[in-house]
Amino acid sequence: MCGIIGITGRDDAVDGIVAGLQRLEYRGYDSAGIVVGGQELAYLKRAGKLSNLTAALEDEPTAGRIGIGHTRWATHGAPNDVNAHPHLDPSGRVAVVHNGIIENYQALRASLGDDVTFASETDTEVAAHLVARELAAQTTPDLLAAVRTVVAQLEGAFSLCFVAVDDPDTIVVAKHEAPLIVAHADGVGYCASDVAALIAHTRDVAALLDGQIARITPEGYEVVDVDGNAVEPHRYSVDWDLDAAEKQGYDHFMLKEIHEQPQAVADTLRDRLADGRLHLDELRSDEGEIARIDKVFILACGTSLHSGMVTKLAIEHWAGIPVEVEVASEFRYRDPILSEHTLVIAISQSGETSDTIAAANHARDQRAPVIALVNVVGSTLAREADGVLYTHAGPEVAVASTKAFTTQIVGGLLLGLYLAQQRGRMYSSEIGDILQRLQRIPAALEQVLELDPQVANLAERYQDAPYTMFIGRHTGLPIAYEGALKLKEISYLHAEAFPAGEMKHGPIALIEEGSLVVALAPAGHVFGKMVSNIQEVRARGAAVLAIGTEGSVSDLKAHADHVLTLPEAPHELAGPVLSVVPLQLFSYHVATARGEDVDQPRNLAKTVTVE
Ligand code: M6R
Repeated sequence: MCGIIGITGRDDAVDGIVAGLQRLEYRGYDSAGIVVGGQELAYLKRAGKLSNLTAALEDEPTAGRIGIGHTRWATHGAPNDVNAHPHLDPSGRVAVVHNGIIENYQALRASLGDDVTFASETDTEVAAHLVARELAAQTTPDLLAAVRTVVAQLEGAFSLCFVAVDDPDTIVVAKHEAPLIVAHADGVGYCASDVAALIAHTRDVAALLDGQIARITPEGYEVVDVDGNAVEPHRYSVDWDLDAAEKQGYDHFMLKEIHEQPQAVADTLRDRLADGRLHLDELRSDEGEIARIDKVFILACGTSLHSGMVTKLAIEHWAGIPVEVEVASEFRYRDPILSEHTLVIAISQSGETSDTIAAANHARDQRAPVIALVNVVGSTLAREADGVLYTHAGPEVAVASTKAFTTQIVGGLLLGLYLAQQRGRMYSSEIGDILQRLQRIPAALEQVLELDPQVANLAERYQDAPYTMFIGRHTGLPIAYEGALKLKEISYLHAEAFPAGEMKHGPIALIEEGSLVVALAPAGHVFGKMVSNIQEVRARGAAVLAIGTEGSVSDLKAHADHVLTLPEAPHELAGPVLSVVPLQLFSYHVATARGEDVDQPRNLAKTVTVE
């Protein structure tokens, strides 16, 4: 939530900041702002999308060699011009942009006294006031020292980025439970919430760790802890390039990312088999430890949670370990029973979702080893986990997650097979055979993508359906949940998912003439049951759109109004990778038909770094 960028040491710093904000806008788009530093601070901020700020910049050109920018997902204070970042102290000598929440901001405001007035309702502004007060008390202005003193007083989760007239070439950033990376290239210093904002300048970055504070100048950066001791950030190189972060001719990032799924899945599967065995080297796992696992918890949010539901099926089926899948924000506030023999799998595209990170920490407090199944290399979850399995989906920009989901499912299948292998539950030859079959997924995905025109027609027809129900069983159920989430989040249409067998226990009462039911009925051991459930809703007047598989669709065609036919999946547990794609396309086409903003749906942000 909220994107931050800072640049020092470039004549066209403003252009660089605006370009960076464009890549960070997925993190929030309630307002955007920029402040240019130097001998005085000149700022401009506008409610609404970044385009409002860029239009204002054309009317009021702003230039400078140092500046910081922000794109906001509002938490404290309405999304208007005043609450937009940057925030300045009353004298206009210090400016700050912020991602996260300063929980004790009211107490801090009160500590400044009754005569201090605040321009905004935000939790952020107090940080500028406090740093300005510290600077005023110093004999030689030192922004880093001032920020260290202030950060020690803050509670909550935050990444903060400051500039000050008293230290005119310097940006100071502080990180605590919200992502922040720093970099230096060709005489320019950078910071940003996400590497996507810096990829045009460098691939070599350093992620700050919690409690670290950095001084960034055109000469380089130094990183210290809150006491001023030099510390090491997490340095790494990014393995994708600027092209991957562009739309490349597609109308929307979401559509581009849907079409990237064959490649993304191929990348996730690449180089996993050697000497007849499955290798997941990044897991850093100990065979004895895996043998002793007696329970698995999968923790995630949103789309990642749905992929976890498929992972549960894979682990239980192949490795024979009981698995619970839980919403991370619930897990962290209860008293789950864990031990060092409980394996926790935290799934997250970004690796920065605070609910998931906190849930993983909650598990680690009880000695449970944590594996992160993440996409973003170097992210907090990846760094903090005991082991990591990267999904290699490449950058996912659209708020609606697509290729991250399918690669997470594939990652989950790999984990299931790996646990089975390490526990001696399956022969290597069996695992090798399944892995060979999984290699067919990318080609099958290409075939599924050819359904696009058919799906677009259906979307046009049902674009105004007031309520859509998604039903499924076994591997179809997570996809039903995911299909409903996709439709809700980008088309704003009411959609819900139910286990098909649960319909008769209540939800079927909602069905009336003309209700739309999307039924996941791929080939598999519950196919017959699904056909019965389809008949039940159809008998009550529902229009049924069924997702089926070559070979069994003739049975479906007799009972459904529309059937989308998938190629046969290489394994029943891999079926969800294929069956979700028509639902991604359906939500995409419904949203575009309704004129909605597909890549930046209202009220949402790509990475949710607040509770
Ligand atoms: O980065 P994460 O995978 O941890 O994000 C979790 C959810 O916020 C995310 O999957 C969200 O539900 C998607 N935007 C839905 O498309």
